[in-house]
Amino acid sequence: MKEINERRSIREYKDIRLNDEIIKKIIVSGMMAPTACNMQNYKFIVINDNNKIKQLIENGTASFIKENMDMILVLYSKKTNNVEYKDNIQSGAAVIENMILEATNLEISSCWVCNLPRKKIMRKIFSIPKYYDIIGLVTLGYSDKLPGNKKLKYSFEEVVSYNEYKETSKNIDRTIPIIYSLYKCFSKYKFIKKIGKRFEKKF
Ligand SMILES: Cc1cc2nc3c(=O)[nH]c(=O)nc-3n(C[C@H](O)[C@H](O)[C@H](O)COP(=O)(O)O)c2cc1C
Repeated sequence: MKEINERRSIREYKDIRLNDEIIKKIIVSGMMAPTACNMQNYKFIVINDNNKIKQLIENGTASFIKENMDMILVLYSKKTNNVEYKDNIQSGAAVIENMILEATNLEISSCWVCNLPRKKIMRKIFSIPKYYDIIGLVTLGYSDKLPGNKKLKYSFEEVVSYNEYKETSKNIDRTIPIIYSLYKCFSKYKFIKKIGKRFEKKF
């Protein structure tokens, strides 16, 4: 599929809004994703009101998010029989991947965003009930930006083994969740936001 190779995260868009038909196509493609036990327990919140976007920005989100952008918040039910594998989160992620591939197919740029205000605040802003988990946000827009070829960080041999796990020379980076949690707590303060911006993509 050419969309797999062409899709890249684009964070700057032209000042042109997406029409409802396109938003619908992207969401319906998300709905076609595989979901654990075929539950299809997703919900989508189309965000196009600047008041809501302002609240996202004020409460600490990815710094490229601006007013007049189109975005879709993806929720998935917390209900799962398979807590250990968090299959509800996996289902929600599959939904988002379908959506961004469909956007690519429609020549619309996108970015998957999890750098969002704390879930408690998100629930308040968007009136999300407790029984839905917030999976991620997809920003969408038109762009001429060509990000260039994607460079893979690891070779095939470094990440693939047969029949059992094999240690390789490079270890996968481990993040320090406590630093991110602290950042999220204080990111409403301008000077913390400024520092955080420099490290944002690492999150
Ligand atoms: C689960 C997830 C969360 C992400 N969150 C953010 C985010 O909060 N802000 C952002 O700018 N990009 C975010 N991204 C996009 C990644 O930074 C991007 O996919 C990565 O740098 C690789 O670039 P590419 O998408 O162009 O291949 C996220 C991607 C995933 C899969």
